[in-house]
Amino acid sequence: MENFKIDVDSDGIALITFDVPGRSMNTITGSVMRDLITLVETIKTDDKIKGAVIASGKTSGFCAGADLGELNQRGAQAKDEPKSEEEKLKKQFDQSFTLNKSLRALETCGKPVAVALEGLALGGGLEIALACHYRVAADNPKIKFGLPESKVGLLPGAGGTQRLPRLIGVQNAAMMILQGADKSPQEAKGLGFINEVVPAGKTVEAAKAWVKANPKATAPWDVKGFRVKDGPFTPGGSIAYVGGNAMVSKQTNLNYPAQRNIMSCIYEGIQVPIDAALRIESRYFIKTANTPQAKGMIRTLFVNMQALGKGGNRPQGFPEYQVKKVAVLGAGLMGAGIAYVQAKAGIETVLLDVSQESAEKGKAYSKRIVDKDVSRGKLTKEKGDELLARITPSTDYSLIKGADLVVEAVFENPALKAEVTKKAEAFLGDTAVFGSNTSTLPITGLAEASVRPKNFIGIHFFSPVERMGLVELIRGKETTDETVAKAIDYVLKIRKTPIIVNDFRGFYTSRCFGTYPAEGVEMLMEGVAPAIIENVGRQCGMPMGPLEVSDSVGLDTALKIGKTNAELNQQDYKKDPRAALLSWIVEEKGRVGRKGGKGYYEYGDDGKPTRIWPGISEKIETKVTECPPELKQELTKRFLFRQCIEVARCFEEGVITDPRDADVGSILAWGFAPYTGGCISYIDLFWGTKKFVEEADRLADAYGERFRPNKLLRDMAAKGETFYERFGAKKAA
Ligand code: NAI
Repeated sequence: MENFKIDVDSDGIALITFDVPGRSMNTITGSVMRDLITLVETIKTDDKIKGAVIASGKTSGFCAGADLGELNQRGAQAKDEPKSEEEKLKKQFDQSFTLNKSLRALETCGKPVAVALEGLALGGGLEIALACHYRVAADNPKIKFGLPESKVGLLPGAGGTQRLPRLIGVQNAAMMILQGADKSPQEAKGLGFINEVVPAGKTVEAAKAWVKANPKATAPWDVKGFRVKDGPFTPGGSIAYVGGNAMVSKQTNLNYPAQRNIMSCIYEGIQVPIDAALRIESRYFIKTANTPQAKGMIRTLFVNMQALGKGGNRPQGFPEYQVKKVAVLGAGLMGAGIAYVQAKAGIETVLLDVSQESAEKGKAYSKRIVDKDVSRGKLTKEKGDELLARITPSTDYSLIKGADLVVEAVFENPALKAEVTKKAEAFLGDTAVFGSNTSTLPITGLAEASVRPKNFIGIHFFSPVERMGLVELIRGKETTDETVAKAIDYVLKIRKTPIIVNDFRGFYTSRCFGTYPAEGVEMLMEGVAPAIIENVGRQCGMPMGPLEVSDSVGLDTALKIGKTNAELNQQDYKKDPRAALLSWIVEEKGRVGRKGGKGYYEYGDDGKPTRIWPGISEKIETKVTECPPELKQELTKRFLFRQCIEVARCFEEGVITDPRDADVGSILAWGFAPYTGGCISYIDLFWGTKKFVEEADRLADAYGERFRPNKLLRDMAAKGETFYERFGAKKAA
């Protein structure tokens, strides 16, 4: 066994050290699963062993669960898979059930087994612990125990859905599993799935003491007469199921099959003996793991996010860039947020504005966040003060001297940006990077003001900076790989996820995101009731309805963009009915959106939308006031296809080149329905390019050329290619 070491003490208690070689954290790999079979057999048959204590050999914790990277690969290497669907499912079931079988064998080995948890146990890690007879945890509130599988579209498949409800009741377990929530050792003890909490470093000792005192251990559910606290036919059980199902429907809009399957799996499993229950769980696990939702979510939200978080898209061959000091130009909404995340990451920050007062105001933004965190106990006063001391608000550009990077976040005005670029570069070292946070101005154009355009790059943050995890890096025509690598090192240092795009109008995120509110306006003009548009938008997985999104962005901003686009295409913008509608709302009715307290919605004093503005009916006759399922399905397709087709266009035009960037960017930047795994995974996994093209053609015939698939999509459809095959393989080569 390469993953477990056994030391039997003089009392006959085997200390089993779980330590996956070459990794900083234990995960359940194929090799661990094979070793577990041997391990359980040894505990069971070795007469010298009277009982066992399992502990981790890592300081990082006990075990973080299944190796999702391996799971993701298994799906990709479908070459030697059995041909028929039935054989394939059988093979998957056998693979998945192996772990359940081993853990059940451990539980029924006839000898007491305890687990000593000095650190986190998540997913499969906690499931191993649940299959032990006794669980001891170190008293450290930072330790997490939980079953987070549902967060990547899966369900716990190693007994978690069956043992946890049997231990702590259906209602408590269902809540934990559905939300993927974690608990501290004390909370876990309170709920009843940790038996004992002891001082750190003492868990093995306590676990051994228990094993010694309990030579014959069985799981509670193997004792005759065992009953689940709130099983299906108890008053508590009906609350758990009726309330639970309603909650799942409300929160997921039934877009996430994992949550529904978790409910079914618990309900069905809890009514039968544990052995049958574990088989039920394995079936639901396979059913869930085979959904496009699980495949997309695992790939994008786990594998890709992890890869990008480690610099997976960083040009190679450049040493890590040490970013110690950064100057931020402009202490407005964005500059203030950028200063905060930098200071939090330990970067010395110079925050420059036109007056000392404005610069101080920018720093005050950080102070507000720090004060709140200190008052909530999330940060000590001392650490808060250290963070704030890293920000120097000023008007003096000479303080830029010695900076490794500059982020420019002044008004969106090319002349002003050119001026501050020159001013800043006068103090900037030759190898330092200059990044512009512009949201719309082409980087190549802005770089013209720079004396070293090779070091010039777009560093596009999202608002609010401290909450949004993505940064879009935009290569100008002259930006070098080295500059991209340095910018990535900066983004990783402030703990955000970078994606890399090329310099085209709207870059990647703003361009694609804009199609969602635009499709909402198309529907509005067709006479679909605004409430239907908004509800379907949310129900198909977007964070807000498209009209509410427009209000948030600002209808005046949308009008300005519409006018610019019309100008670029040499059209009279008012001839476009969409622009005419917008101009009427903004210029005649004075409704600019949320910031003005009126837009497509009316807003209360708290800034929250109260109702859709009825005045819209003066201009638009509502013709569709009912939304039967077929209409909902059609509107859903329109929303999602429209965005995905724009993403496909971005690939064809070279705006974006890596499907991982495209998928992660679509979810983190504009909230594209997360259950899909992102725009590209929606095309690849939910449809396949061939069917996607057929459906897009149908939509184009029915609603307009905006849905017409581009050449790239048609080419891929003809070859039966996916984006990950075409663009992923090219990258690897
Ligand atoms: P803002 O209007 O809140 O702040 C701009 C700041 O720049 C003001 O404090 C102003 O006094 C300062 N400034 C003007 N001239 C200056 C100079 N010569 N030297 C130093 N500071 C100067 O604007 P906001 O929203 O922070 O936007 C800044 C940039 O970020 C713009 O390019 C914008 O397009 C971009 N952006 C904005 C996003 C948003 O959601 N607001 C999102 C992503 C990018």
